[in-house]
Amino acid sequence: MLNRCASLRVAVLVSGGGTNLQAILDARGSVIRHAQIALVVSNNPNAYALERAAKAGVPSLVLNKRELGGQSAFEAALVQALEEHHIDLVVLAGFMTILSEDFTRRYDRRIINVHPSLIPAFCGKGCYGLRVHELALERGVKVTGATVHYVNEIPDGGEIILQKPVEVLPGDTPEVLQRRVMEQAEWILLPKAIELIATNKQKEN
Ligand code: GAR
Repeated sequence: MLNRCASLRVAVLVSGGGTNLQAILDARGSVIRHAQIALVVSNNPNAYALERAAKAGVPSLVLNKRELGGQSAFEAALVQALEEHHIDLVVLAGFMTILSEDFTRRYDRRIINVHPSLIPAFCGKGCYGLRVHELALERGVKVTGATVHYVNEIPDGGEIILQKPVEVLPGDTPEVLQRRVMEQAEWILLPKAIELIATNKQKEN
């Protein structure tokens, strides 16, 4: 359901450096024209992503699972924040916490995630961040990439929205490959997917 002022209200959930968050913030007014970044939520108080949000003037919130007393208290606090900010779409951008089936059902087709491989390769439980690129190099693939998909109860199992291939080059380390996948795929796909969903929602209304 789209909020009253017709621009999709987006919350970005982060855990770390937040380069994908930065790509989203930088795309405001260019690629992203029908959505606003209304809230950033981090499960990690030390995430550099929080500084990026502050610099961009976007409100942010830290929800620490341990301090809150576990997964269900964490998700209850998250739901409350999303409701208070009238959020239409939740974007997982380097968010390293699995969300429960209760939560993903409640926000069915309203949560998207960026994953640094061409799903169904190198994905699923325990396969995130740098590990994804280590596995791709170990397997010797010549092409990898990134995927933006809807989030359901199966880790990395929801419907695929966008994918982009990226070449693996001789001598790549996991770090070098990670950076190339970010630059050539993730930072392009994620803003595009947000705008795609925002414009599709407008057509529905
Ligand atoms: C990104 O490569 C993102 O795709 C990955 O973590 C990194 C976060 O970087 N996410 C996953 O692996 C989730 N399955 P960032 O904090 O700089 O955006």
